[in-house]
Amino acid sequence: MKRKKLYIETYGCQMNVNDTEVIFSIMADAGYDRTEEISKADVILANTCSVRDNAEQRIHGRIEVFACEKKSRSGVIVGIVGCMAERLKEALLESRKVDIVAGPDSYRNLPALVEAVSPGSPQIDVMLSHEETYGDIAPVRIDKNGVSAFVSIMRGCNNVCSYCVVPYTRGAERSRDPRTIVREVCDIAVSGYKEVTLLGQNVDSYLWKSEEGTVDFADLLLMVADTAPALRVRFATSHPKDISDKLIEAMASRSNICHCIHLPVQSGSDRMLEKMRRRYTREWYLERVAKIRREMPDCSITTDVIAGFCSETEQDHKDTLSIMEEVGYDYAYMFQYSERPGTLAARNYPDDVPSEVKTRRLNEIIELQNRLSLESNRRDIGKKFTVLIEGPSKRNASELCGRASNNKMCVFPDNVHKCGDYAEVEVLSCTSATLICKLV
Ligand code: SAH
Ligand code: SF4
Ligand code: F3S
Repeated sequence: MKRKKLYIETYGCQMNVNDTEVIFSIMADAGYDRTEEISKADVILANTCSVRDNAEQRIHGRIEVFACEKKSRSGVIVGIVGCMAERLKEALLESRKVDIVAGPDSYRNLPALVEAVSPGSPQIDVMLSHEETYGDIAPVRIDKNGVSAFVSIMRGCNNVCSYCVVPYTRGAERSRDPRTIVREVCDIAVSGYKEVTLLGQNVDSYLWKSEEGTVDFADLLLMVADTAPALRVRFATSHPKDISDKLIEAMASRSNICHCIHLPVQSGSDRMLEKMRRRYTREWYLERVAKIRREMPDCSITTDVIAGFCSETEQDHKDTLSIMEEVGYDYAYMFQYSERPGTLAARNYPDDVPSEVKTRRLNEIIELQNRLSLESNRRDIGKKFTVLIEGPSKRNASELCGRASNNKMCVFPDNVHKCGDYAEVEVLSCTSATLICKLV
């Protein structure tokens, strides 16, 4: 039978990118090859994100584009999968522009859903699962450079931060069998990758229990690092309330575990943290940062910040600026609060910070972070780093770029090395985003 073509657009977090790789694998077994050209696709999927309203607005725009494709070529099937499919369910079918709606735990069922679609009979599967981890599925890697691969080690989230939609779209937290993780990491190393990132919404709460014993995230991290000593190992995301001494010490104990921790703070105000249900205080957070710095003075710390959460005062906002300054983050992802229907915050607290105030506070946060990133990079001038080369520099094709263990982007003139090599560099100067280096 002739193989068909599948096109997928991916939105949202790295876990969604990894899910797209799982979908390609499932669909390959059902006779679909990947295409990057929408005009050649028999099936068009958007793997979607609901974390903020603007993420969803973008998808609504894409559905219109897919509808044009359907009009111009009969038989094309359009599916919305992932978090937004899970959140909006049947509502996505109302416009009659979508044939399939499938949630994050329904991907094994996608071939059957595609098969069952006929004019006037769209298909929907948004069942969430307590067990599904796709642990046995070998993802079809879609990264561009063949250097970095991503492995999901858990799914879902049990934290229910009051602003966050993820627990509703991805369901309950479940950890994946460590044997399948180690097997996948071996495959990645054998295929020539040089770096693996272990993914979960809260990797610190990874837990696998079996007759042979219990594996927590620190144990898993060491298993992975020791399975493939030639691979660099990274992970995201750590929840401040759960990041343990054992994990920090495990990181410090292996040279192939990168010294970089993403530790989303969200706010520097205890009142906001309580209202966000983050379940740590400013003091607790700063103590965890101090522990990281004691064990790994060269470890970079990055974060996520939300500006303008419900009832946030000028003082709460100043507390956020001051914790950012106190930690001296190397990098941050910064957002305006976006109310998500159905969350605890949407049900209990008015979204009462005016939009212009949110924007102004976010701009202050961004401006501060630009200065902190620049200061952090300046501190690296004169230091030597081992860089894993990702390819030519985006600005200057005669230069190469790659990341140091602390995840900072380095660029340097080099006609010796190639993509996937390690190079020793010294930092000469910097911008807020890049370390400008020379080979040593
Ligand atoms: N599991 C991770 C975060 C996943 S979502 C953690 O707990 O740290 C990624 C980031 O999006 C969050 O850290 C938060 O900063 C942001 N975010 C989540 N919901 C949001 C909302 N409703 N409005 C604005 N930003 C939000
Ligand atoms: Fe959302 Fe909180 Fe879970 Fe992160 S830990 S995914 S912010 S509920
Ligand atoms: Fe978005 Fe879902 Fe990831 S809401 S951030 S794609 S888990």
